[in-house]
Amino acid sequence: MSRIAVVTGANQGLGFALVADLAERFGNEDLVLLTGRDRGRVEEAVSRVGGRAGVEGRVLDVTDAAAVAELARELGPVDVVLSNAVAPLSPDRSQAAQAEEFAAVANGGAHAVLREFGPGLRAGGRLVVVASGLGTLGNLDPALWPLFDGRSLDEVERVVGDWVAAARAGRAEERGWPRWVNVPSKVAQVAAVRAVAATRRDADLSAGTLVAAVCPGLVDTRASRPWFDDFSGALTPARAAAAVLDFVLGPVDPATHGELVRYGRVLPWHGGTPHQGADLIP
Ligand SMILES: NC(=O)c1ccc[n+]([C@@H]2O[C@H](COP(=O)([O-])OP(=O)(O)OC[C@H]3O[C@@H](n4cnc5c(N)ncnc54)[C@H](OP(=O)(O)O)[C@@H]3O)[C@@H](O)[C@H]2O)c1
Repeated sequence: MSRIAVVTGANQGLGFALVADLAERFGNEDLVLLTGRDRGRVEEAVSRVGGRAGVEGRVLDVTDAAAVAELARELGPVDVVLSNAVAPLSPDRSQAAQAEEFAAVANGGAHAVLREFGPGLRAGGRLVVVASGLGTLGNLDPALWPLFDGRSLDEVERVVGDWVAAARAGRAEERGWPRWVNVPSKVAQVAAVRAVAATRRDADLSAGTLVAAVCPGLVDTRASRPWFDDFSGALTPARAAAAVLDFVLGPVDPATHGELVRYGRVLPWHGGTPHQGADLIP
């Protein structure tokens, strides 16, 4: 049976490298959908992919939940879904001013993908959100942990809405939220994955299906460039994508189901230390 993979936010950075690597690993009867929000950028990216599998471009703005639902309906059963899109975050504007768009893409997009592609995932499939090592609960003040611990997807979505509203009103920090929006956003992405995975764990494990979040490590891309000076230890997108796909396409270890995984290892949900991002934000 031919396989179908879908990658969001794939016209550049890690998403593009994931598509290019999938196109190499898949066979010529398989299909990889390279999706992105801008038609011109999607078409240009498709023209740069080689590999054996067919690669098609699709315009998909992940903040448009109806469009995500429509694509899932159109494709039917899918084998690999990688929710990867992220909006650019600039050190030159206040974090509060960027929270809404950032969360709409990273969190709204992940929620839509989990909701719309989860039910139709083929037995033995992979539904993976690209998060970050900042996504463990321990990166937040422990007073905030109950907001995300053991919550449903709807509850996580409400918490994200409350955090964004507080950020917009300039009140997030007084409520204990880190200033750097990447931190609450990534914790919420992992909480959303945990919520969905918990509802389907037994069925998934008996079918060899994986729902998980991954951290790709530090990767030299548009998203990371404004935030760090030294990229000597950063991975190229191609290296990072290869490590992600080794895990995603490898045998399913039940210990990784519903967890945040970096280089094949689970990052404990309660691990980490509260991270304000104050060292990064001017
Ligand atoms: N880079 C790192 O060091 C690092 C570390 C940890 C985690 N990550 C995670 O890895 C993932 C990929 O990041 P990256 O570094 O590859 O970022 P990137 O190079 O900035 O690429 C982000 C992609 O998302 C797309 N996008 C933005 N808004 C969108 C929308 N509304 N709908 C659909 N696509 C949209 C962008 O499209 P446009 O070109 O049209 O803007 C772009 O293709 C993210 O989840 C990020 O948080 C990255």
